[in-house]
Amino acid sequence: MKIVRTVAETRAARAGLGRLGFVPTMGALHDGHMGLMASARDGCDAVAASIFVNPAQFGPNEDLTRYPRPIEADLAKLEAGGVELVFLPSVEIVYPAGFDTRIEVGAIANRLEGAIRPGHFSGVATVVAKLFNIVAPDVAWFGQKDVQQTRVIKQLVRDLDLPVNIRVGPTLREADGLALSSRNVYLSAEDRAQATALYRGLSGAEAAWAGGEAGAATLRSGIATHIAETTGIVDYISIADPDTLVELDEVTDAGAVVSLAVRYGTTRLIDNVVLPAR
Ligand code: PAJ
Repeated sequence: MKIVRTVAETRAARAGLGRLGFVPTMGALHDGHMGLMASARDGCDAVAASIFVNPAQFGPNEDLTRYPRPIEADLAKLEAGGVELVFLPSVEIVYPAGFDTRIEVGAIANRLEGAIRPGHFSGVATVVAKLFNIVAPDVAWFGQKDVQQTRVIKQLVRDLDLPVNIRVGPTLREADGLALSSRNVYLSAEDRAQATALYRGLSGAEAAWAGGEAGAATLRSGIATHIAETTGIVDYISIADPDTLVELDEVTDAGAVVSLAVRYGTTRLIDNVVLPAR
């Protein structure tokens, strides 16, 4: 496994790797990330990862400084996962003095997470465009866990003609349903126990849909009931069109995205499911 830190080093190392799959991350790697690393080998000759805690996607009162950075453990996981190339840039490499460009993705980036975290997806789109230009992958993998991020990236790639094929891997969960997240380490034991309410709510919505319920308001309030049994503060509960993420009144087709964001103390959790055909 080769570790590279500069743009020139990365381009030189990438040149010999053939068809390349890529998984951008912010580190604190868990099995959700590692599942994407494994998937990224599909149809490719080699896999590259990046670890970069991107300041541009954190708001002023968010967790940039406390975001976990267990770099040695991360590198051991990537090595064990057979990853060939790791791009590990400093903030100065990605945003050198004088850096002054931002990518603004439109409507898809402004609802849900984007409405609550202004500038977040601009930061994501900007860094992902840079990472694509530096690593030059053929295929890049993103997790369904961050469903809106996958839509924003697809819009970015389409609009800017970026020559990267975007693939989405499934959400990996703990045995009790909690979606794996680098931020789960922030949860106190009490909050960790309550945080299973997100998946209980989502599962409840899936069951209600399977049982014939199609009213989005009813599905949303069913989820809210689960969260209300805990100390969680709801940022949003959404039943949305899979392509536009615009809120639905009625679920008419399979594929609707049920998503939510809930805060336990200072920890913000997001999760989602896609309603299947019935
Ligand atoms: P990060 O939160 O580290 O996530 C990296 C990738 O892992 C993302 O595509 C995310 O959706 C995926 N992922 C996270 N938890 C997952 C889970 N439980 N199951 C499956 N996949 C999961 O997302 C980012 O970093 C950043 O925004 C980034 C794209 C790297 C840009 O800075």
